[in-house]
Amino acid sequence: AHVWQGVINEYRDRLPVTDSTEVITMGEGGTPLIRARALSELTGNTVWLKFEGMNPTGSFKDRGMTMAITKAKEEGAEAVVCASTGNTSASAAAYAKQAGLTCAVLVPEGRIAMGKLSQAVAHGADILQVDGNFDNCLEVARKLSESYPVFLVNSVNPHRIEGQKTGAFEVVDTLGDAPDYHLLPVGNAGNITAYWKGYQEYARPYDSATAGQLPAASTKLPVLWGFQAEGAAPLVLGHPVTEPETIATAIRIGNPASWDTAIAARDESGGLIGSVSDDEILAAHRWLSAQEGVFVEPGSAAGVAGLLQKHAAGEAPTGATIVITVTGHGLKDPQWAVKAAELEDPSLVEPKRVPFDVVAVAAAL
Ligand code: F0G
Repeated sequence: AHVWQGVINEYRDRLPVTDSTEVITMGEGGTPLIRARALSELTGNTVWLKFEGMNPTGSFKDRGMTMAITKAKEEGAEAVVCASTGNTSASAAAYAKQAGLTCAVLVPEGRIAMGKLSQAVAHGADILQVDGNFDNCLEVARKLSESYPVFLVNSVNPHRIEGQKTGAFEVVDTLGDAPDYHLLPVGNAGNITAYWKGYQEYARPYDSATAGQLPAASTKLPVLWGFQAEGAAPLVLGHPVTEPETIATAIRIGNPASWDTAIAARDESGGLIGSVSDDEILAAHRWLSAQEGVFVEPGSAAGVAGLLQKHAAGEAPTGATIVITVTGHGLKDPQWAVKAAELEDPSLVEPKRVPFDVVAVAAAL
């Protein structure tokens, strides 16, 4: 049986490493592509969920972090820094520990999901809560890395994008070709940039004139649909949002660093970047838990919210193969799952009490 070696070893020939590179990996990638039966039936498509919560620290960030930390180590770094709404800091803290580097994380005031903060604490990162939002944190982290001997591991670091493009490779390797559509949440816009890069590289036909060009692994390119939260939708509005607001704290970002490449991914793929309301996000989050058995954090459900919204508006395709990246694990931020279940039916969150007796248990069921 093949044992998964992490994204760098699995896709070594398509990533910026050499034989002498010491690979810092926690076995990330190789995440499940799960058939979304209820969504498929509802929309008349074949819908798959790329469940990135199954990465070592519970989000897609690990794909980029293995690459960023590997390169930081190779280039002699002793310390790394990132700004984060939570998942990047969890990932950076864990991979820095693997590499023997120190890690500083800048997080916005309040509203970091408890699961994510716990990870950074547990892995011993220096956590600084900045009096401001994510965009402010990123500005400080960038300046810090320009003036001090500390490597920036946010997705403005191109190695992050390199690692994250492997998500697209895995989809093609699993399905045998790219899907017709690929949907995903958009925050700082690194991931939509990375998926587009990955799909393009995998679709590019072999060209003997271009040295080092690898054979194509897919024949088509998907249409990319990205979704931002309505209160944090600068790419939809066409200008930065100074006070982004959404319950989906992972994507509460007003001025995405990868703005231009996200717009390029949208336009070159013939796709769109839309917005979904907090209610739509929570409904999609609930749908994933209650209909598909897939437990994600709220921000991760934005792509599914987008499909449900477009379907309701009669603007979704039919008969298409659709992949939706669900970006982070539900255990990161479980309070929303409980709240949503409670709203639907308060008895869902109250366990029935029964005596220590099989007949009573059977009767209760
Ligand atoms: N989904 C989750 C769960 C995220 O944590 C993020 C980003 C996104 C989607 C959006 O991805 O930024 O590449 O467009 N989280 C970053 C962080 C900002 O700090 O953890 P993006």
